[in-house]
Amino acid sequence: MSSVNILSVGDRAWAAVTKTSAFVFGVEAAGEDTRVVQWYWGPRLPEAALAEVVGQVPRRTGSGFHDPRDVDELLPVEGGRRWGVPSLQAAYAGGVRSVELSFVEAVLSDTEIELVLRDPLGLRVGVHVKVVSEVVERWVSVANEGPHAVRLGRLDSGSWAIPEQAGYRYTGVAGAWAQETQLHRAELAVGETTFTSRTGTTSHRANPWIMIDAGDATEERGEVWTVALAWSGSWRLTAQRRPEGDVAVTAGFGHDGPSWPLDPGETLVTPSALGLYSDGGFGAASRAWHDYARHHVLPTPFEERPVLYNSWEATWFDVNEEGQIDLARRAAELGVELFVVDDGWFGSRTDDRRGLGDWWPNPDRFPQGLSKLFDTVRELGMRAGLWVEPEMVNPDSDLYREHPDWVLHYPGRRRDTLRNQLVLNYGRADVREWAIGWLSGLVSDYGLDYFKWDMNRSFTQAGWAEAGERADLLWIEHTRGVYAVMDTLRERHPRLRIESCSGGGGRIDFGILRRTDEVWTSDNTDARDRQAIQDGYSYLYPASAMSAWVTDSPNPHTRREVPLAYRFHVAMAGALGVGGDLTRWSPAELEQARELIAAYKAVRPAIQHGRQHRLAGTPGVTASAVQYVHEDTVVVLAYNPFALSKHPPRRVRLAGLDPEAVYEDAAGERRHGQTLMSHGLALPTWSTEGSDYRSEMVVLRRLGI
Ligand code: GLA
Repeated sequence: MSSVNILSVGDRAWAAVTKTSAFVFGVEAAGEDTRVVQWYWGPRLPEAALAEVVGQVPRRTGSGFHDPRDVDELLPVEGGRRWGVPSLQAAYAGGVRSVELSFVEAVLSDTEIELVLRDPLGLRVGVHVKVVSEVVERWVSVANEGPHAVRLGRLDSGSWAIPEQAGYRYTGVAGAWAQETQLHRAELAVGETTFTSRTGTTSHRANPWIMIDAGDATEERGEVWTVALAWSGSWRLTAQRRPEGDVAVTAGFGHDGPSWPLDPGETLVTPSALGLYSDGGFGAASRAWHDYARHHVLPTPFEERPVLYNSWEATWFDVNEEGQIDLARRAAELGVELFVVDDGWFGSRTDDRRGLGDWWPNPDRFPQGLSKLFDTVRELGMRAGLWVEPEMVNPDSDLYREHPDWVLHYPGRRRDTLRNQLVLNYGRADVREWAIGWLSGLVSDYGLDYFKWDMNRSFTQAGWAEAGERADLLWIEHTRGVYAVMDTLRERHPRLRIESCSGGGGRIDFGILRRTDEVWTSDNTDARDRQAIQDGYSYLYPASAMSAWVTDSPNPHTRREVPLAYRFHVAMAGALGVGGDLTRWSPAELEQARELIAAYKAVRPAIQHGRQHRLAGTPGVTASAVQYVHEDTVVVLAYNPFALSKHPPRRVRLAGLDPEAVYEDAAGERRHGQTLMSHGLALPTWSTEGSDYRSEMVVLRRLGI
């Protein structure tokens, strides 16, 4: 395919084409009312046919009472004859609210286009479209070229029309702390379905993406349209299903309420909304997202993620040099490659009530600083990592006593705490400089390889006193400030890797994944609960970035008892880690753990970098299996949580194999790819005889011809 992905297909009409899809759009001027509309989004058309769709969207209601045509617009504004969900709302001087745009020009390159529109009251609006492998990235820039300040009530990255279907069904994830990324799939109701975060982070409650199909797509088949947002602060995604029948999805940063000033000369640029069309069902859509993450988002996608140990559930806040060294020795014996010290190592932080913000080793717990511990960790052949929560402060800390004005607050209002902490305002340059200073110092002083970057509370009283009328910008500037600090750290310390954590999985999205290597999907480490969380995660994000630990049984959060092998097999579905109290594991358990870690390492490239297939079942609820294919290796992880689950399928049909090739299992048994895909593989784990929580890993190798 040529490297030209944006084609001109007529007068003021363009197509964004990927290998498999096309997105055709352009300018439709109805008198003075310019609309930039989407004419087509679906399977790729022959180049000569692209022009055929231009202008071909019949109006439903003529020019009568209601023209629902704004459902097809790339950026429906609040203004003129539009009554749908606005992607851009502006208030001009004197309370004028109607945005009226006319087309100025198109600035076109091979992979990107900007459609420039102008409102005579002074706004210059850039609608940007870019092709990045299978994804169409879209964002908007708005510049105030007029003499007066303007306030933006809404500035989405763009709206996407879903082509007309016999029905509309959405798939998305929603949840809560310890229950993140639970899959929801239901008919899209007539009206407006909004997923949003008002927390200042991506949030546990929902994740910024939606998939829409006609109600007939399966894992392996069918057309699926996805819209996702690459942003880690508050956001809103609304799918509107008009009573007239059309569906559009608009997504952008910010939530309803705050509004952003745009002074003369200023420009505001949105994050990207990402659109992906797939005709291979949900599975192919997910694999295309994983490819996009690997090739265009993650900073170190092709590295093998090390097996890590994290001390949180072993010690909670009870961290000290001796105990950590003891755990490090035990972890190294298991084959762990990265040792991470969690919360409780700094300042006076002996519980969650104090010390957050005072980022120096606690002198009682680490009399020699952290050097002795991390020197030992390195002598044991492991890399060194540390938990930090740079955006937060306990009121009972030296930092807060010195800089009470650094937190989000409104003068004269309460400063509500959550988990006894307040949020530092990363919109402030002094806060960012402070953070870069001590974070960078820790990396240099201790030769750190890894930060677990936590963010444990939602915003409240989100004021920014010095910013006055501009205070609402902190909903954007905080997130951009965090991005900037992470980017600077990575630039200064190219070996540093970062894990994104936010009270578990509260900050997972394509914005944070641009500057982090792994994410923590949940504080809930119960293997069975984790299966559902991991399944929901896998719809957009790749296994290589999914940190997953094996912890103790009974699980400290759920009290559920789950065998060690099952716990391992669940955590092996991503970047494997261990987080249990190794001082309490029996010699037999330690031996089994050693073997399972070795087995994981032997197939790690396949799991972390392979193509992932959700084969069957409802993870954590019924017998299920997930498969990874990478080069000549095929790995199947199979689970059966209940002994008495009636009649699980006897065989699992594999996917994504070479039908002509022969695959060999560990026992030397050989079968063709086609047999494995059509007839399937019998799994002992799925038999109706046995105990609860049976699991297995099956490895197949494709034989050379
Ligand atoms: C959050 C994280 C946990 C742990 C604790 C430490 O809850 O999600 O993994 O790091 O903070 O306080």
